[in-house]
Amino acid sequence: MFKLPLAALGLIAATSMAHAHGDVAPQPMNTDALPDVGEEWLTENPYRDQGIEVWKTAIEIGDSGYNQNCARCHGLGVVSGGLAPDLRYLEAEEYGDEWYVERFQTGYTQNGITKMPAFGELLGQKAAWAIRTYIETRPDDGALDDVTPRLLQVRDELAAMAEGADGDAAALQAELAGIAESVDTGSGAPVADSVAFRAANLISGDTPDFKAAAEALTVGLSAAH
Ligand code: HEC
Repeated sequence: MFKLPLAALGLIAATSMAHAHGDVAPQPMNTDALPDVGEEWLTENPYRDQGIEVWKTAIEIGDSGYNQNCARCHGLGVVSGGLAPDLRYLEAEEYGDEWYVERFQTGYTQNGITKMPAFGELLGQKAAWAIRTYIETRPDDGALDDVTPRLLQVRDELAAMAEGADGDAAALQAELAGIAESVDTGSGAPVADSVAFRAANLISGDTPDFKAAAEALTVGLSAAH
């Protein structure tokens, strides 16, 4: 009878793991849109307090950077599946930042086995703080549970408005912004980048995008449940 050698089985398992979790090589990130932070490594997130535009850009770049480089171990959307620590609870202040950036730069090796690769040289400091900004603005577990039924109604209204139905865009925007303010982070950061926050932004200003806001709510709420 034909038997697969154990080593081959291990190789197959490792290969399919790598596929399941995406590419293992660090994925380069384009951080040109973010302000420079200099050569020397900082110990505190420089994108936290440079105004809302920098902060939002950092979250957007950090979102894709995190999900390509960190999610396979730390979990999609920073919700850990148990392979590696849940990063949502690292304090969003210098104490948590120092710990974060040390791990980011050097990774973690135990008994000669690399448990976490070093990202410092490969991705650089701007990428580090963009990912940090994304991580610290994740909503806490269950933070949207109470407001989900109402958000689904708002989603339906926005979807109808995208098709031309009448609706009070300003009132919905204000309501979403109010809900967004009530959503806590696990890190203690004052504002969570929740689906309510994203939808409120998408329908604010002179060119409200009802369709994109409805889609953001659909995707965000189904991912959470
Ligand atoms: C191959 C798996 C793997 C990848 C990829 C990975 N990590 Fe980790 N990470 C780990 C493990 C395992 C630990 C726990 C190490 C320890 O015991 O201190 C860890 C720990 C950390 C810690 C310390 C958390 C704590 O509570 O002590 C931070 C911060 C961190 N990782 C950030 C990141 C970031 C940011 C990325 C992506 C740029 C990333 N990691 C990618 C496996 C990984």
